[in-house]
Amino acid sequence: MSTREELAQGLTRARERTLQLVDFDDTELRRQYDPLMSPLVWDLAHIGQQEELWLLRDGNPDRPGMLAPEVDRLYDAFVHSRASRVELPLLPPADARSYCATIRDKALDRLDSISDEPDATFPFGLVISHENQHDETMLQALNLRSGPPLLDRGTALPAGRAGVAGTSVLVPCGPFVLGVDAVSEPHSLDNERPAHVVDVADFRIGRVPVTNAEWRQFIDDGGYNQPQWWSERGWAHRQQAGLVAPQFWNPDGQTRTRFGHIEDIPADEPVQHVTYFEAEAYAAWAGARLPTEIEWEKACAWDPTAGTRRRFPWGTSEPTAALANLGGDARRPAPVGAYPAGASAYGAEQMLGDVWEWTTSPLRPWPGFTPMIYERYSQPFFEGNGAGDYKVLRGGSWAVSADILRPSFRNWDHPIRRQIFSGVRLAWDVN
Ligand code: AVJ
Ligand code: FE
Repeated sequence: MSTREELAQGLTRARERTLQLVDFDDTELRRQYDPLMSPLVWDLAHIGQQEELWLLRDGNPDRPGMLAPEVDRLYDAFVHSRASRVELPLLPPADARSYCATIRDKALDRLDSISDEPDATFPFGLVISHENQHDETMLQALNLRSGPPLLDRGTALPAGRAGVAGTSVLVPCGPFVLGVDAVSEPHSLDNERPAHVVDVADFRIGRVPVTNAEWRQFIDDGGYNQPQWWSERGWAHRQQAGLVAPQFWNPDGQTRTRFGHIEDIPADEPVQHVTYFEAEAYAAWAGARLPTEIEWEKACAWDPTAGTRRRFPWGTSEPTAALANLGGDARRPAPVGAYPAGASAYGAEQMLGDVWEWTTSPLRPWPGFTPMIYERYSQPFFEGNGAGDYKVLRGGSWAVSADILRPSFRNWDHPIRRQIFSGVRLAWDVN
């Protein structure tokens, strides 16, 4: 996605997703489904406000925009916490919609007038990434919503394969290229750059993510009640939050609630909605560990025969419904083994899509990091910069758009969060 035509299509696809996720009445859009999430109408207007800032105001908040300054500020995520946004004098839904539509018209006009040079197109890629990321956030909010479902159960997915759960692949030691650069990936974000060589010891990594059936064995074996599997912080959190199973699993032990639908927990689907601390405990119980994000990226993107990175785990072709579960319409992960054609050079499957995978890595800049125009996208969240502690998640969930995902894409969240579409892939040392 880098020509202006492709960017226009990316903007349009993102907006179709957004509008589908706010196609509800005003009361619904103003509701706070959970203190962890914004009301949907905040996300909607924030999407437009950020688009105006990066595409029409050169990223300079002192340059006047369409909104009065005090209204504009309502959509600054650094000024207002998610929990407090429901109390703000937000734009009414109709105004938020027309604001977004007006900004979009102007942004498309602007796109017509720029060159195809990466410097000119980069902000458009950033805006496409931003809107799609908020679409995933809105899906998290809708999943937390109580009451009869607003969204359907999602589209069909390919069947899984027997015999892949619990298996692993070997990633032999040796240097590889971590990260990307402006030439290989013109719309990669600042935290993915620059590309640089890193040496990694031998390790094994799960062929597929950990499944619900495997997680149930951990529960049945008493894993949630045995501090020996948990880190000190993890156990303290497990106690304080009363964790006994993944979020959205019902007390009957057999069913879960997903976007308001109650259904049997599918045995062969990757487990979802676990904290970092639960992931870490599960791994210890299973005689394994979590991967670092560097190991994860090598297993995903490195081609040891060619000695180069692949654009995607499977090669250079763009993601399709036969290669990965992306885009949000499935509303759930695909069963393990569903995408043999999407395997990486090392044989790891479902690296992109399905669930975000917790890694042991804190969020740190790669050496030579330079902030992009959206300077506060990554930097405030780096370890030591005061925003709290984060762990990196890799791979992207079923809710991520194929338009914005790359093997180098880095997500992060607090280790106690699990309303996100988070899962687990195990790793092992090789001696
Ligand atoms: C990269 C997903 C952690 O949602 O906080 C959206 C993305 N940044 N608007 C977030 C983001 C600004 C960010 N994550
Ligand atoms: Fe945002």
